[in-house]
Amino acid sequence: MLNKKTIEDIDVKGKKVLVRCDFNVPLDVETKTEITDDRRITEALPTIKYLMDQGARVILCSHIGKTKNKQSLAPVAKRLSELLNREVPFASDVVGEDAKAKAAALNDGDVMLIENVRLHPEEEANDPEFAKELASLAELYVNDAFGTAHRAHASTAGVADYLPAACGYLIQKEIGIMGGALNEPKRPFLAILGGSKVSTKIGVIENLLDKVDGLMIGGGMTYTFAKAQGGNIGNSICELDKLDLAKEILAKAEAKGVKLYFPVDTLCAAAPAEDAETTVCPSNDIPDGLEGLDIGPESIKMFTEAIKEYKTIIWNGPVGFFELNKFANGTNAIANALAENEEAVTIIGGGDSAAAVEKAGLSEKMTHVSTGGGASLEFIEGKTLPGIACLQDK
Ligand code: 3PG
Repeated sequence: MLNKKTIEDIDVKGKKVLVRCDFNVPLDVETKTEITDDRRITEALPTIKYLMDQGARVILCSHIGKTKNKQSLAPVAKRLSELLNREVPFASDVVGEDAKAKAAALNDGDVMLIENVRLHPEEEANDPEFAKELASLAELYVNDAFGTAHRAHASTAGVADYLPAACGYLIQKEIGIMGGALNEPKRPFLAILGGSKVSTKIGVIENLLDKVDGLMIGGGMTYTFAKAQGGNIGNSICELDKLDLAKEILAKAEAKGVKLYFPVDTLCAAAPAEDAETTVCPSNDIPDGLEGLDIGPESIKMFTEAIKEYKTIIWNGPVGFFELNKFANGTNAIANALAENEEAVTIIGGGDSAAAVEKAGLSEKMTHVSTGGGASLEFIEGKTLPGIACLQDK
C-alpha cells in the first residue's frame, strides 16, 4: 500500500543515517525536564534498533515544542539512553561543531541525538541551504516521524532533496493500519469525531462520508449542528459562519445513507470548572447562561450501545471538556466502549483522543493509537503528507 522505500530496502551498514523522529513529547510543566508521556520515543525504538543492529551510524533528529519556545531535546537523550541501555551522546547544536564532531566519531552500530531542529527558524521555512547542511551530516535519510509528516520542513522533507530517503517502521505501521482501515474496512465502519470546531474537521468529515456506515459526532462541534437544526444552545461554543456547512453535511450524510449519531442530552454548566454546578439538558434546548461541556447520560448509553455494532472504528477528538474530570465521563465511556469491542479494529487518531485513552489506561486495548495529532487528521482527510511524499518510490 505504501509504495515508498523502507529501511529494509536500503543498505545501511557502515553508513551515517540521519533519522527524523517525532520526539515532540510532553514535559512536566514545573520541572520542564521530566517527560510525562514517552510513547513517541518508545514507538521509534524498532527503527532505531534495526538500524543499529544493521551496523548503521545513527544520527537522530527531531523538534520539540514550537520554535519560539526554544526547548531542548536533552531530556529525550537521557530517556533514550535508559531505553537503549547505553549512553546516547547528545550534540548541543544541530549543524554546528558539536553535531559534526559527534557524528564523525560514530562507529558502526552507534547512535546519537542532535539538538532541537526548530532552534533554527530555517527548519520550519524549509530553507534549502539549511536542509543541505543537515543532510551533510549523513549519507542516508530515514523519516520515521509520522507525527510531523504533515509538515514540509527542512528535516521532514527538504533533506530528502540531498540524500537517498526511505521510511522507518513507525511510518509503515501508521500508514498500514490507518490506510487499511480507510480503504478496506471490516464493515460496518464507524467514525467518532469530537473536538470543538466543525471547521477543523470538515475535510475529515467530507472524506469519511464516502467511506463510513456510521458517523458519531460529539464535543463542541455538536452545538453548531444543533443550532443549524434550529436548536437552542445557550452559551455553548458555536461557529455561526458554519451553520450552512453543517446543514450541507447533514444532507450529504442522508444522501449517502450514513447513519448519524448526535448526543440527545448534554451535561451543562455556567463555565468549565472542576467545582462547577452541572445540570443535564436536551442537546437542542440549552438555556442561556449555560454551555454544553460533555455528552449526557442518555447519550452515553446510546453511543456505547451503538459502538458494539461496528467492526471498524476510527476515533478523533474528545466528546467533552475531558481535561476536567467533571466533564470527562463521555470521553471515558467512549474509550471503554472501544476497549470492550474486542472484535473491532479500533483506531485512535492521535492528539487529544490518544491522550484520553492513555489517561484511562486503555491504550493497550486498542488496535492502534496513532502518534500523530495533526498528521493523522490530515491522513484521514486523504491529504498527501509531505514527509512521506518526499521519500523514494520502491
Ligand atoms: C505534533 O505534536 O502534532 C507534532 O509533533 C507536530 O508538531 P507541530 O504541530 O508543532 O508541527
